[in-house]
Amino acid sequence: MDKSFKTFLKHTAKDFHNHSVNPPVVRASTIIFKSMNDIRRTQAKYKRDPRGGYFDYGRQGTSTTHILSKILTRLEESYHVFLTPTGFGAVFLAIFSIVRPGDEILTADPVYNPHDLNSIKKNITKKTPGSNTFEFQDLSKIISIAKKNKILTAIDNTWATPYFFKPIKLGFDMAIVSATKYYSGHSDVMGGSLAVNKKVFKHVEKAQKITGLRLGPDDAYLITRGLRTLDVRLDKHEENAKKVAAFLSKNKKIKLLYPYKKGSFNYKMWKKYYSGASGLMGIKIKTKNKNSVIKFVNSLKLFGYGYSWGGFESLALHQGKSERGNRKYLNLDNDERLVRLHIGLEDPKDLIEDLRKSLKFVR
Ligand SMILES: Cc1ncc(COP(=O)(O)O)c(C=O)c1O
Repeated sequence: MDKSFKTFLKHTAKDFHNHSVNPPVVRASTIIFKSMNDIRRTQAKYKRDPRGGYFDYGRQGTSTTHILSKILTRLEESYHVFLTPTGFGAVFLAIFSIVRPGDEILTADPVYNPHDLNSIKKNITKKTPGSNTFEFQDLSKIISIAKKNKILTAIDNTWATPYFFKPIKLGFDMAIVSATKYYSGHSDVMGGSLAVNKKVFKHVEKAQKITGLRLGPDDAYLITRGLRTLDVRLDKHEENAKKVAAFLSKNKKIKLLYPYKKGSFNYKMWKKYYSGASGLMGIKIKTKNKNSVIKFVNSLKLFGYGYSWGGFESLALHQGKSERGNRKYLNLDNDERLVRLHIGLEDPKDLIEDLRKSLKFVR
């Protein structure tokens, strides 16, 4: 990431009109105009430039959502970014915009929440790396096969965010990020973003209008505020996660699912596309004693137990069948257990000490 983008994140969207560093929350269903002519002028401007922030009704958003979309469009280096109320809303919008009856969706085995996608069965949706198991796929190869066969592609880039990897630049048609995670960064807001190239823009624009999938201005404000420190937080998540990974990799019972150094799991494929790694990692623990793994997880003091991730705090989850989903190619032996850790912004020394004490329970 070039330095100028870090600076851009701190300096963008100042509101000199209201003299506030952050743009105000503009809540509106009715967008009010001074005259009927004024409405028509705005509608004509929208027609000429649908990405330009011209609204005649609140379902299209307000200046608060427009600002967030502009910042993310720059981060993604995409044609446009649509905003949705959740990350899953962005997945739905991508599919609804493109897929027609009789079409098929090809998904990677570790796609997030496969239970739900299986029931939807000419697109490839990707989640990289795999949720919980962290497989990295050869993305250029997938894109080139898809292009040859006139298949559109979408990727869920929540783990890395476009700070570490820019899918639209590589050639994906659509890129989803759950803004619930690192964009907002404080575990108190939900949102989603769908970055698109020019080819699919019109389809998604139409679908968003029909479905009314709109991010509220209060949530957009919080996500914009979170984004100010996206680079600083992600750099630190990575630094902390690498320290924790180095510690965990010394444990013979543990196989680390995190590309933290040369030779580590999936490092080559990660390095081919990503400039950094975030704070979410998987660990496989080899033991016949499942309960001892549960005891390890339950004994952690600095890791919260809860779904989601991408906030400032560390989290842990023992991955049962319900979290893993109906995987066909899950590489898990009978005597292996899966634990997911989100490494937060605490002092890594404290996190390592917590893990050290609790790992004693693994038998
Ligand atoms: C990788 C990934 N993608 C998408 C989502 C869905 O995002 P949201 O919870 O904002 O709907 C999640 C949620 O956990 C996720 O982990």
